[in-house]
Amino acid sequence: MIFKFPTTIYFGKEHYTEVLEFIVHKRVLIITSKSGRRLHDPIIASLLRDAASQNTLLTISSEITENPTLLEVEAICARAKGERYDLLIAIGGSSVIDSAKAISYMLVSGRDLWSTIQLKKADELEEACIPLLVINSTAGTGSEINNCAVITNEKKKMALITDGIYPKCLWIVPEIMVGLPKIKAAYQYVDCLFHAIEGYLSRGGNTISDIFACECINLCCSQLMDFEYNYDTIHYKSKMALASIYSGLSDMYGGCLSIHSLGHAISGWNNWVEHGLSIAYLARSYYGKLQKMAEGEALQKIVALSRILSKQIGLNIDLKLVEILEVIFNKLDISSRLEEQLYKIEEIGALVVNARDSAGELFYNDPVLFTDNDLKEIFLESILRK
Ligand SMILES: [Fe+2]
Repeated sequence: MIFKFPTTIYFGKEHYTEVLEFIVHKRVLIITSKSGRRLHDPIIASLLRDAASQNTLLTISSEITENPTLLEVEAICARAKGERYDLLIAIGGSSVIDSAKAISYMLVSGRDLWSTIQLKKADELEEACIPLLVINSTAGTGSEINNCAVITNEKKKMALITDGIYPKCLWIVPEIMVGLPKIKAAYQYVDCLFHAIEGYLSRGGNTISDIFACECINLCCSQLMDFEYNYDTIHYKSKMALASIYSGLSDMYGGCLSIHSLGHAISGWNNWVEHGLSIAYLARSYYGKLQKMAEGEALQKIVALSRILSKQIGLNIDLKLVEILEVIFNKLDISSRLEEQLYKIEEIGALVVNARDSAGELFYNDPVLFTDNDLKEIFLESILRK
């Protein structure tokens, strides 16, 4: 086993000075979302103003959308080529962070990003990638501390994975995470919790990933009961920002399951489907089938996970994992969105191929061996669930 953790984390706005010192006297490219909303946050605006006053050249690129595309990333790279930036700053959530990671790799390697991703040939570069500072605006991604960048192209969501793109520095400021709609907070919650659930059940799991998974699950569950009233408070964001780090570490050391491949297939196919929504959409069918097929140690782990979730959520009875997920989705108030049609029945065959092609490696982490027919049934049951 290899345990790497090269990112320096500053947690809290009191680390303003250290972060400012990291930025000043550099040529900086800032990557942010198309709305550029976070640039107007008082803490961010002050940081950039102070940096600019200390011999720092700031260029802002605000064009990243949800499920960022290859075209968006390539357009930024084309403009940045030859500018010799010595720092990238990602201000935003997972879409922005993933794009910034891909840009840092492309600007140094000069390689074609999509063929590198498809060939899974993101070898370590002789020259270091451009260092990346992440100012994470969403409490629940995991991308802020891992070496993975998911990019969408040709209806596929695929990951660039290479150690060169680990963020050098991460600044967590719960104050800048508030102000998102409740539905977005719910999807972030889903992604955060499910990385931990998957890391816990993964065949690649180990003691370290279990520790992070359980810490993440504990934090997520402790925030669930008051989600409706607290989801936009600094207290909630602070807890979930920590949960997100644990979630990312659980994923990094234990690995995700194939539900992430299936979810990526839905979002790659239909770019408007949020990542958290796609995972929640499939979860009950996926885990229902998983529990039916699991045997021995794998089944024991599912039962143990169900007990942990039941206890942490405060349920007094032992429920099946699928029933617990139902409780969680109700509390997050996303049940009605799970009844929408995110794809057509006739697209299911193509979605299975897409999932295997785009993130086939995750199937090796599954505690059971899913056939294509099993996957089709999961997609079908999810869409027929009303
Ligand atoms: Fe995820």
